[in-house]
Amino acid sequence: MHALCLFDENELEKGAVALIESALADTQQAFDSVAAGYDRSNAANPLLSAMRERVLDAIIAHTPPAGRVLDLGCGPGADVATLAERGHRGTAIDWSAAMVEETRTRIARAGFADSVDVHHLGIQELDRLPPGRFESIYSNFGALNCVPHLSDAIGLVADRLVPNGVFVASVIGRVCPWEIALFASRADFARVAVRFARDLTPVPLNGRTVWTRYYTPVEFERVCARFGLRRVSLRALGVFVPPPYMEAFAARRPAWIARLQRLEDRTASWPIVRSLGDHFLMVLTRS
Ligand SMILES: C[S@@+](CC[C@H](N)C(=O)[O-])C[C@H]1O[C@@H](n2cnc3c(N)ncnc32)[C@H](O)[C@@H]1O
Repeated sequence: MHALCLFDENELEKGAVALIESALADTQQAFDSVAAGYDRSNAANPLLSAMRERVLDAIIAHTPPAGRVLDLGCGPGADVATLAERGHRGTAIDWSAAMVEETRTRIARAGFADSVDVHHLGIQELDRLPPGRFESIYSNFGALNCVPHLSDAIGLVADRLVPNGVFVASVIGRVCPWEIALFASRADFARVAVRFARDLTPVPLNGRTVWTRYYTPVEFERVCARFGLRRVSLRALGVFVPPPYMEAFAARRPAWIARLQRLEDRTASWPIVRSLGDHFLMVLTRS
């Protein structure tokens, strides 16, 4: 009986590992499929650009001059290129080989090949990165939401930070008022529920699947605290301003969006407001 239980547990574990591997493969293929046009479409989206500006401001404000930075899930490399321009030495990793190629090409064209190295690596594999620690580690636009075991990943991140180094995370949140209003108005309650799933949940991208896990800031901070990472600041991104995929809606109302952006920038760190939004931006330090 005892032997049978052990056998079942092993089988269960093997099954769980296979599921995770298959989810990671789906996510990789989905991002590979959009890599070529990703930077162009992102740069042309003012809602997304406004969010990026705010994340970059936070990274820059917390990184010492010429500090070493690590970009987790760099995509086509927009952030690491900006930071290299400002004199930082960068390392960028991404799970999608096609995104890594985009970043390498961009960095080479900009003449930063000596100050930025790019690796095809998942966040979950950070222990395979050549030895070294960073003054700043950041992740923009939800790459951390695609990691199967956040706790393992955050442990690896904490190991790579110098004492008093910062971790700047832009994470997709659970409670996005615009999304709830949009899909509830269409009576699409299954779509409204997507962000409230407890586990990895399938999100369509270009006819493929990105397996995503959503977090409230409290859930995220609790995991970080286990590894000695203490919150320095927290703000919402996309709480009054609509999320980037509502770009067409926003483009018809530019003055209104500008007012909402000003309101958001004034209030995004207030209690309650900071726990809402399409993304949240948390800055933590390794004490
Ligand atoms: C929404 S994009 C954001 C890209 C980039 N950070 C930016 O700001 O444009 C998410 C990125 O995370 C990458 N990604 C997804 N899962 C990952 C993982 N487990 N490890 C590392 N990167 C991952 C994707 O390949 C994709 O490039």
